[in-house]
Amino acid sequence: MVFYRRIVEKDELIVPSMKYSCNKVVPLSSTFPFFPILLTIACLFFCQCKKPVLKNLQRNFDPTTLTSKTPVWQFLIELGHEKPTHYTDSIEEKWIVAGQEIVTRGKSVHPVTGAGGARISDYFYCIDCHNTTREEGSLARVSDPAEKLNYAVANGIPLVPGSTFAGMVNRESWYNGDYAKKYRFSLSVRAARTSLEKAIELCSTECSQGRNPEPWEMEAMMAYFHSLQWTIGDLDLTGADLAELKRRALNPEEHDAIMAEIKEKYALAAPATFGEMPEDPKTGYPIEGQANAASGKLVFEKSCLHCHGAEGASEHYFGDKDSTWKELARKFPGSSKKSIYGLLRLGTHPEDGKRPYMPNFTKERMSEQQIEDLRAYLEEKAKGNPETPED
Ligand code: HEC
Ligand code: HEC
Repeated sequence: MVFYRRIVEKDELIVPSMKYSCNKVVPLSSTFPFFPILLTIACLFFCQCKKPVLKNLQRNFDPTTLTSKTPVWQFLIELGHEKPTHYTDSIEEKWIVAGQEIVTRGKSVHPVTGAGGARISDYFYCIDCHNTTREEGSLARVSDPAEKLNYAVANGIPLVPGSTFAGMVNRESWYNGDYAKKYRFSLSVRAARTSLEKAIELCSTECSQGRNPEPWEMEAMMAYFHSLQWTIGDLDLTGADLAELKRRALNPEEHDAIMAEIKEKYALAAPATFGEMPEDPKTGYPIEGQANAASGKLVFEKSCLHCHGAEGASEHYFGDKDSTWKELARKFPGSSKKSIYGLLRLGTHPEDGKRPYMPNFTKERMSEQQIEDLRAYLEEKAKGNPETPED
């Protein structure tokens, strides 16, 4: 298995100008009669503390600190943006490495005490379903399955059902679109919409059929995800754009506008639209023109084999055998939810904590055209067609 590793140097993520704490000004160990007075003073302190400090920071914006390596959150916060609740500003490399191990190998040990070491899930690694790099050329439009496939082929990454962990801390909501709609009555999904920690807990227990991470494991994963946040350099700015940004950032009145412009450059949420099975599985989805078996081969290799290959998460191994191709082609139109149309659009369901299941692919992550291309490829292979495109 290949790991895509992008460790950020320890010091890069520390925001020196944010090393202050308003809370410490408030001594609450006071006796009861003075409490209301102290509370008022504390309130005054706190309110005053918050605003002027932000203004201060804005005036002190130091343009030399802005480089292509500057994490986007660091820049936004220096411009006066509120810190997101999941934001961590000092991250040590050993925590990033532990988090990376949990995400890519399923487990790690506590970076300080050496305790722990149990897998989060017996069935899956997070990277069975999530990438850790960008998945499309554009960070703003993340919903083009054709571009995802091209990008996956060009960059040697798989085509997976979950959204990428890269830039995940830059998003402002999780479990969006139809996930939010379909599970709107589920308290854990609702909590996960606005809290990255809750989203991680939900996916560890539900998607991965595993357990809740221990607090240190959560901290480690968060450190790792912060190391995968977008940097200014990811935003496709030219040298001239960057110079202009530095110039404008010196003027506090520009800060709101700059923040808004920066946020337009990447997706604040991963969109998700659930697809349906075709009306008539025999004829499949209506597509323009012919299905393309060569493209279907890429879907098969980049997506299906990621989990159904020799080392994959699924016990169903799709070896290069006549019987496998025949079975897959037959399963395609199938009839029920067990058809490949059904598997891809509806997924299978896990028996609680008992076995791995196959997650559905949203329309943003696999198109109807791609599903038809895959069908054309599998049907060709089943026929043993000599013209089947080889590598
Ligand atoms: C079996 C597949 C699967 C596994 C394993 C899995 N996930 Fe997910 N995860 C998904 C799917 C599908 C979604 C919903 C689509 C999406 O990513 O937005 C999701 C969503 C998420 C989200 C919210 C993303 C967002 O922007 O909406 C987080 C956070 C997350 N997963 C973390 C994890 C972590 C951490 C692990 C490993 C402990 C993990 N997942 C393992 C399939 C999986
Ligand atoms: C994220 C991992 C993952 C990906 C990607 C994936 N699968 Fe699966 N698939 C699974 C798992 C896990 C199972 C076992 C489900 C079960 O036992 O209910 C499964 C089961 C299946 C089955 C057997 C279902 C049954 O119960 O008989 C078929 C057929 C299948 N997948 C086809 C595909 C095809 C085709 C693709 C590519 C388009 C694909 N899968 C991509 C994880 C995956």
